[in-house]
Amino acid sequence: MHLFLLGAGHVGLVSAVGFARLGHRVTVADLDAARIADLNDGLPPVFEPGLTEAIVRGLADGSLTFTTQLDPPPDAPFTFVCVNTPTGPDGPLSTVHVERATAQLMTGVGPDHAIVIRSTLPLDGPSRLAALAANRVDRPSIVTNPEFMREGQALEDFDRPNRVVAGWLEPRDAAAAQAVLDLYAPLGAPSLVADARSVALIKLGANVYLGMKISFANELARVADATGADVEQVIAGIGLDGRIGTAFLRPGPGIGGSCLPEQAVAIALQTVALDVEAPLLSAVHRSNTVHQRQIVARLERLLGGPGSLAGRRIGLLGLAFKANTDDVRESPALALAANLRAAGATVLAHDPRAEARARRADPQLDVAPTPLEAVRDADAVVVATEWAEYGQLDWPALASAMRGTLVYDTRAVVDVESAQAAGLQVERLGRPSAGMDQPPEAVPASASIPEPASSSASDS
Ligand SMILES: NC(=O)c1ccc[n+]([C@@H]2O[C@H](COP(=O)([O-])OP(=O)(O)OC[C@H]3O[C@@H](n4cnc5c(N)ncnc54)[C@H](O)[C@@H]3O)[C@@H](O)[C@H]2O)c1
Repeated sequence: MHLFLLGAGHVGLVSAVGFARLGHRVTVADLDAARIADLNDGLPPVFEPGLTEAIVRGLADGSLTFTTQLDPPPDAPFTFVCVNTPTGPDGPLSTVHVERATAQLMTGVGPDHAIVIRSTLPLDGPSRLAALAANRVDRPSIVTNPEFMREGQALEDFDRPNRVVAGWLEPRDAAAAQAVLDLYAPLGAPSLVADARSVALIKLGANVYLGMKISFANELARVADATGADVEQVIAGIGLDGRIGTAFLRPGPGIGGSCLPEQAVAIALQTVALDVEAPLLSAVHRSNTVHQRQIVARLERLLGGPGSLAGRRIGLLGLAFKANTDDVRESPALALAANLRAAGATVLAHDPRAEARARRADPQLDVAPTPLEAVRDADAVVVATEWAEYGQLDWPALASAMRGTLVYDTRAVVDVESAQAAGLQVERLGRPSAGMDQPPEAVPASASIPEPASSSASDS
């Protein structure tokens, strides 16, 4: 079948490759002509393992076509809308591009066509689409089909989704929603058809729940820091309860990426707009912000107490919001850099993949080409992304380049033995200091880090 996709971003490209691998011919259109030109040269705008190779193969065998022509080819029965949903005046998940694309599509296609919204919709997204479709007797079907992929393993997630969900805008769209699910049938995943309002809440509810699990682990880690407990053991013990499990209960420098943080903000704002009191849903964003500041407070304490970051040099290892991606949207590493600067420190960072996007997101950021350069003359090193290469650093070389001896590992990725053998003091989020036999003092309640001037981590 010939499928048409609008939006050559992370979701559009992964979906295009996934559908092509299912045997379809896929045409991807974007209004960004430079992006399309690069794609026709086999150069995707984002890093995702396997994506470049798959695009080059798709171009060569004709299964993938990239174009700036935004009208669906006449033989394509579905258009997948994968455009961005940026932060607008009402907060994250503005449907401005989704609505524009849908309105444009509706002028050119009739009832035999289905417009499939793959972009993440806010809770009022279905009502907005229904308003666009109102009084259009001969309109195309409109279906929602949110993407649940994880960046860094997105192609695998397309091939082996844990579920596929389709939402119908009005009952007349239900057959098209089922037809969309049929496209994914060869993948053998559980599937669900529901009304689009429920599907919007499935998507946001799932992501905010995941954000809550990470935030819960982060808070446990800070409690563990204050009591001398080991969060790894704590989570292993909690997770033995089959009702809880350990998946996603993993502490780190904070939730990040284009989805979880912004959807935590979106759901908080949207429940207020709906006059629904939902303190738990709203707490995820606040917990994350507090956590990011407390990471810096802990570092400050390790360096000698309040004010001790002023004038210090910090080597920051990792800028991507997680390993195996170059995505820095809402990256906790960028928040960390901003909070460190706000506390008076100088930050020199390194990331194996995300340097270009990080520089665009935060023009104040200084980035070094290697970890060794990033830690030169540093008073402390902070590890903020769990890149595998940070587990194999040449600590003797890094230690001799550093001025200080502190390594603060927020990802539990550092080879502690080798860093300690190089004379470094390794501190890990939520884990007792290696060799420690006394519980640490609690973080003083007065430890406070100034707000950064602005957070510019989002490039969506
Ligand atoms: N990135 C993720 O991990 C992820 C995961 C699940 C869902 N989502 C959601 O999927 C959607 C897309 O995310 P993304 O990360 O792929 O975005 P992106 O910013 O990487 O790409 C969006 C693309 O859409 C193009 N575009 C915008 N308006 C257009 C129009 N009218 N016609 C054609 N092209 C247009 C832009 O030029 C851009 O290339 C968002 O709603 C996002 O929340 C993202």
